[in-house]
Amino acid sequence: MPVDLTSVFPPFGLRVETGRLSLRYPTDEDVTELVEVAARGIHDPARMPFYVPWTEATGDTLRTNTAQYFWRKRAEFSPAEWALPLVARYDGVVVGVQAVETKSFLVTRTGETGSWLGMEFQGRGTGTLMRRAICGLAFDHLGFAEITSGAFTDNPPSLAVSRKVGYLDNGRMRLERRAGELAINQSLVLTTGTFERAGVTIEVTGAAELRRFIGLDT
Ligand SMILES: CC(C)(COP(=O)(O)OP(=O)(O)OC[C@H]1O[C@@H](n2cnc3c(N)ncnc32)[C@H](O)[C@@H]1OP(=O)(O)O)[C@@H](O)C(=O)NCCC(=O)NCCS
Repeated sequence: MPVDLTSVFPPFGLRVETGRLSLRYPTDEDVTELVEVAARGIHDPARMPFYVPWTEATGDTLRTNTAQYFWRKRAEFSPAEWALPLVARYDGVVVGVQAVETKSFLVTRTGETGSWLGMEFQGRGTGTLMRRAICGLAFDHLGFAEITSGAFTDNPPSLAVSRKVGYLDNGRMRLERRAGELAINQSLVLTTGTFERAGVTIEVTGAAELRRFIGLDT
């Protein structure tokens, strides 16, 4: 990546760190690593944790679709609608993605979190750390008033992470997940009043430039 790309696209300068976990806006090198983590598997193929069932694709199709998702989010970033699909590293190893995305943020001050880890990195507390880190970024540095999330009711790890971090139930939706398949989605909402920081210190750099880029502090 050319050194000055951060001045063209400030999200590249964002760093969120908490202990052995870091979140950054993914470079093309990170995208290449993420694509391989996704291709090794995110969940049992019999299950589908995502609203958009993107992990039904396999092999090179999954790789291409996954890379295009990151490039699309870069290309479409604007104050009216933006996403931070951050690459998560644990001890420097790429393990997955922690995202937050929003529309009309300057008015709504809300956004939705979403995340995934490669199967080999799950069940060790990393998903909880990632979520705490992005919520700390959102509340303490980007002026969010609330953060929403959602998970299908047959996804206990995701729901457990949300509840540990302090999200409260916010209604349920009956959705068609894969073709012909009914699934119940549990909506969740987090505010600063219920955010469980669990003593975790979150260090952020690059937030001032990002704030200007999303239309704050102008
Ligand atoms: C969801 C995900 C990001 C969570 O990350 P993770 O690192 O596995 O989560 P953690 O280890 O931090 O926490 C998982 C919690 O779920 C709990 N859990 C796991 N299976 C459970 C079950 N069947 N019933 C109840 N709780 C369960 C664990 O006990 C743990 O809670 P604890 O720390 O209080 O014991 C990860 O599992 C993942 O990528 N899953 C596949 C993709 C996905 O589902 N993404 C979210 C879509 S909404």
